[in-house]
Amino acid sequence: MNYKQALKHPIFKIISQSAEALQLESYVIGGFVRDYLLERGNAKDIDIVAVGNGIDLANKVAENLPTQPKVQVFKTYGTAMLRFDDIEIEFVGARKESYNEDSRNPVVENGTLEDDQNRRDFTINALALSLNEANYGELLDPFNGIEDLDKGIIRTPLNPDITYSDDPLRMMRAIRFATQLNFKIEDNSLKSISKNKDRIKIITKERIVVELNKILESDKPSIGFKLLENTRLLDYILPELTALKGIDEIEGQRHKDNFYHTLEVVDNIAKTTDNLWLRWAALLHDIGKAPTKKFHKKIGWTFHAHEFVGSKMVYKLFKRLKMPLNDKMKFVQKMVLMSSRPIVLATEVTDSAVRRLVFDAGEYVDDLMTLCEADITTKNPKKFEKYHNNFKRVRDKIIEVEERDRVRDFQPPVSGEEIMKAFNLRPSREIGIIKEAIKEAILEGEIPNEHDAAFQLMLEKGKSLGLKAVEV
Ligand code: CTP
Repeated sequence: MNYKQALKHPIFKIISQSAEALQLESYVIGGFVRDYLLERGNAKDIDIVAVGNGIDLANKVAENLPTQPKVQVFKTYGTAMLRFDDIEIEFVGARKESYNEDSRNPVVENGTLEDDQNRRDFTINALALSLNEANYGELLDPFNGIEDLDKGIIRTPLNPDITYSDDPLRMMRAIRFATQLNFKIEDNSLKSISKNKDRIKIITKERIVVELNKILESDKPSIGFKLLENTRLLDYILPELTALKGIDEIEGQRHKDNFYHTLEVVDNIAKTTDNLWLRWAALLHDIGKAPTKKFHKKIGWTFHAHEFVGSKMVYKLFKRLKMPLNDKMKFVQKMVLMSSRPIVLATEVTDSAVRRLVFDAGEYVDDLMTLCEADITTKNPKKFEKYHNNFKRVRDKIIEVEERDRVRDFQPPVSGEEIMKAFNLRPSREIGIIKEAIKEAILEGEIPNEHDAAFQLMLEKGKSLGLKAVEV
């Protein structure tokens, strides 16, 4: 079978000619070929393998391109990269390599195309298309990767123990590809991941998180998290989640399995949002339930203040995984902290409760509602409909209250300066008290969110504090 069709982009002819000029063989390999065959859309990353020096080939290609792009060389890895149009092209010399036991630094020797294919992670990622004149577009597939693509199987070219211990990140990649593509990891491979799981410790947290994010960004993230759990990789990566596993029963009272519940919530939210951080919030929304779980004779199982405890755990978890401790983390914390608020509210939708919700959630109130809707995992269709209808009412009320009271991005209608002027005050405690009273009155619906009403209240509150208004 010939796949010239895949090589329509003019860059391939230029690479081919450059390689011929250097008397090298060259091939497109890896993700580009895989995604072409899966019809996953045009890949923006192209990996080229040269039988010979990859850096030389990159330089030659750059010379031959009309744009004369800069070549970025990574000496330690013997690779080079250049950009053309919006495509990133990476060049590597075919290698035979093995890795040190305790680091990812490879010991590299030059090799043939097949040596190079051997040392790749999966059969579906070892597919290569020839760029050589003699067999341009021919597929080179020594491990029958095309059949694995067809059948949906993740398989390593070599004995999986070798492939995974060469680069333990591949255990995460196997699970990530299984999730993204909805493929099965072949049995021996899966067993090998369980066996080698502890080797994941030599991989940097940043690289692990890249894979975790890709799992979370998939259509059905639960596939990946179940695999991480089954292979026990999750114990090392996110022990907060494995701690949610299991159902306890005391005196006939049971609670739900919060691990599998969480995975359902994540799958639900994946259908309604692409926001990675909201998906993280769904993944972590119940983590406070493990440390707060208690059984009480009268009321059964409780998870008192789990939202607060959970939001504190988010910080530690992000820190441990070297994730950003910035506004994204704060957003996840906020979602976890507030994750039960709309539920409490849904049974009795009052104006003031909704105003407080909008005030506290601010610009993220819609995200919070999306999270709560995803949190409905009841299998009882009547309850399912009822809960969704309740949230629909909360959403309607949010819009109504918002239009009227504008508390989402609350700005005090009377400023501190105005208060100081009105009572001829220096900066003092009283100003805070008055501002708080105005805010409370607005949230409670006692006064509208308007300057004049707030000014009036300020005068009354000042008087009750013994302050004298300046005559005007
Ligand atoms: N590869 C590997 N082992 C790794 C990482 C990558 O063998 N730990 C090989 C695979 O052949 C892979 C190629 O290098 O196809 C390119 O890697 P990368 O760009 O990370 O992944 P892609 O397969 O292109 O997929 P994606 O873009 O979805 O990450």
